[in-house]
Amino acid sequence: MSDKSLLPSRLLLCLITASMVLLIFSSLFLLQFSNHSFITRSVSKLIPVNNDASAYFKPSVRSENNQPMRINEVPCQSSDPGKTSNACDINRALLRVYLYDLPPEFHFGLLGWKGNADQIWPDVTKSGHIPPYPGGLNLQHSMEYWLTIDLLSSTAPNIIRPCSAIRVYNSSQADIILVPFFSSLSYNRYSKVTGKEKVSINRMLQNKLVEFLKNRDEWKKLDGKDHLIVAHHPNSMLVARKKLGSAMFILADFGRYPARIANLEKDVIAPYKHLVKTVDGGKSAPFEGRPILVYFQGAIYRKDGGAVRQELYYLLKDEKDVHFTFGSTRSNGIRQAGQGMGSSKFCLNIAGDTPSSNRLFDAIASHCVPVIISDEIELPFEDVLDYSEFCIFVRASDAIKKGFLLNILRGINQDKWTNMWERLKQIARHFEYQYPSQPGDAVDMIWQEISHKISPMQLRVHRDNRYRKSQHLVDV
Ligand SMILES: *[C@@H]1O[C@H](CO)[C@@H](O)[C@H](O)[C@H]1NC(C)=O
Repeated sequence: MSDKSLLPSRLLLCLITASMVLLIFSSLFLLQFSNHSFITRSVSKLIPVNNDASAYFKPSVRSENNQPMRINEVPCQSSDPGKTSNACDINRALLRVYLYDLPPEFHFGLLGWKGNADQIWPDVTKSGHIPPYPGGLNLQHSMEYWLTIDLLSSTAPNIIRPCSAIRVYNSSQADIILVPFFSSLSYNRYSKVTGKEKVSINRMLQNKLVEFLKNRDEWKKLDGKDHLIVAHHPNSMLVARKKLGSAMFILADFGRYPARIANLEKDVIAPYKHLVKTVDGGKSAPFEGRPILVYFQGAIYRKDGGAVRQELYYLLKDEKDVHFTFGSTRSNGIRQAGQGMGSSKFCLNIAGDTPSSNRLFDAIASHCVPVIISDEIELPFEDVLDYSEFCIFVRASDAIKKGFLLNILRGINQDKWTNMWERLKQIARHFEYQYPSQPGDAVDMIWQEISHKISPMQLRVHRDNRYRKSQHLVDV
């Protein structure tokens, strides 16, 4: 052996020895922690109790002891290296969020929650302390709730969640200010005028909210541009939306908004919370296991953009492998819809009163390839998801041509369909609302979408400042 080859092999030996020593040390280190850290307790998952409107959705708390880390999960470390805390760090979080301490009547109070005197927020770190959200149709628009409890848990060391958003307690540190008004719930449950009241609770709360915000220095600073308002139900914030239109909204679509108040430049489209049960990827029926070609169940006669439903009904109702019926969304209706979609190759999403509906997300959860016939629809997370990989889009004007739709769908062979189905199984997790939030779920995705809107928002603010601020200098 020559000297030349000896040197590298010695170096190699040294390296191997050094890495062995390191490995032994790190294993010892891990063992020390495993004594009190990685013990598995029961993992309770968030499951809808049932689909009755009176039922409640109970979030459960999974503490850090309950689940081992996943490999692709990058936990946010505490800045103090001595701690093994999972708390998200303000410097590493994607988004710093300030939360107004609005009185509970705007949020958890609408769920019947009453804290101690002076208590504004429930303790989300304890499983029994989170007020459950009403089940049934209310759930479709419950993201106001999931985002709020996620944010409340963001500084709790015992909750494992992605470090996408973190709550900050000083608004000057914030990228965005969350207005914690459960506007969809307020619309769904409190828009009737009762007893001696002159206005509904929903209207009263909106008036109070506008007054509160317009008087805040935080709002005045940028005319509310850095404020986040969740208004997912198309009829939520009906009174206040015009007055607060400069804020960033979380919406289902833009159907009932003028473009000046709601647009993709500043707003975020969030998925509906699906009502049918998620099909487990392993149990999802493949092509030959889905005897129904096309599935649609819902109200058939709708106003506005919904006329196409009626026309399609007459075109499709006599086809043998098409299920196209009136359906109630109450109790049994949802279970039936879940079974129907899970046995169908294609699920129709036709514009109704509004361009969007929870049906699309029910189809995704059932791995039934969505056929979208809704020209004005906006889709959640479309900057990261290419919906054409797992959805079929048909223009409404084409869909109502005789034979057009079925020609397309019958023309999609098993291989092509299976590719879309495989993609559906991959992306379905992006539409799951849960607590604690998991990497890539709906809550995590929404925070990421919001963070994408921050820098364009700042750009607009700075451009607006150009002459406005210079003017001020002259005036003084
Ligand atoms: C918030 O932060 C700003 C800037 O760092 C500071 O001037 C202000 O005093 C802080 N406010 C509170 C209430 O701590």
